[in-house]
Amino acid sequence: AGLHAVARAAGKLYLGTATDNNELTNTQYTAILEAPNMFGQITAENSMKWDATEPEQGVFTFTLADQIANLATSHGQLLRGKRHNCVWHQQLPSWVTAGNFNAAQLTSIIQNHCGTLVGRYAGRVYSWDVVNEPLNDDGSFRSDVFFNTLGENYIPIALRTAKAADPNAKVYINDFNIEGTGAKATAMKNLVRTLKSQGVPIDGIGLQSHFIVGEVPTTLVQNMQEFVALGVEVAITELDIRMTLPETAALLEQQKQDYQTVISACQAVQGCVGITLWDFTDKFSFVPSTFPGQGAACPWDQNLVRKPAFDGIVAGF
Ligand code: XIL
Repeated sequence: AGLHAVARAAGKLYLGTATDNNELTNTQYTAILEAPNMFGQITAENSMKWDATEPEQGVFTFTLADQIANLATSHGQLLRGKRHNCVWHQQLPSWVTAGNFNAAQLTSIIQNHCGTLVGRYAGRVYSWDVVNEPLNDDGSFRSDVFFNTLGENYIPIALRTAKAADPNAKVYINDFNIEGTGAKATAMKNLVRTLKSQGVPIDGIGLQSHFIVGEVPTTLVQNMQEFVALGVEVAITELDIRMTLPETAALLEQQKQDYQTVISACQAVQGCVGITLWDFTDKFSFVPSTFPGQGAACPWDQNLVRKPAFDGIVAGF
């Protein structure tokens, strides 16, 4: 059975994957992407980001984004899209980063961008990563063009805009290094508490989960439970588990156990609704280019062959 079918049988909403337009010409890849019940959700890996969708102010380009969205609705098994993202400090067009805007101007720029993007796919989306990576590792707010111009207000502005543009989509904040307990996870919980007390829509927290073999946090379950206790759902949004290359049989075996650990942690928490792989094959993983010397982070290898990690995922449910 496909991974999504296994996840559904275990009571989760979906198991999905990120995918990107340039990968869709590889028929070996698409055969797995579209295999019955393999993936029940897809995230656009790049084509819904700001630089791809509004490269010049007020000029929206949705060709690539539409291709991913249509993929999700044209296949019965790809039921739900999780869209990524509205506001992030990376992959911004230069007209935004230049930062020549006052608070009122940047507010309407965020509202126009996020409202147009989310509105385009309204009714077809399970959830949006509305705000991506707002925090530093010490729990302070990341200083970027949004924070530097608007302070933490940019977060409610984006969340309210996304919710208004598609009331049926769940609005998430997504970040890394918040998967286990610690200063950054605590800061995210405080942010959720503050937003809720202000009546700002916030439905979920995305735990990116770009992990390292042998170093999966031991507090995943406790931490997810603490988020859920605040009245939000959680999701594992960008799972991969990298190693220092070259891969060895021992590392691949540890990786299998690590995938199992992550899946079973989500399984143990009712409010953990689903898991998204940050692409399913080492052939297209973002890891080697971002973390030089590391890789082999996905459950299928460079040749689209299943690794022990695949069995670890199944075993985790
Ligand atoms: C990455 C993509 O995978 C790469 O293709 C791109 O070059 C850079 O962005 N956290 C996120 C994702 O929220 O958007 C990032 O995706 C990986 C880290």
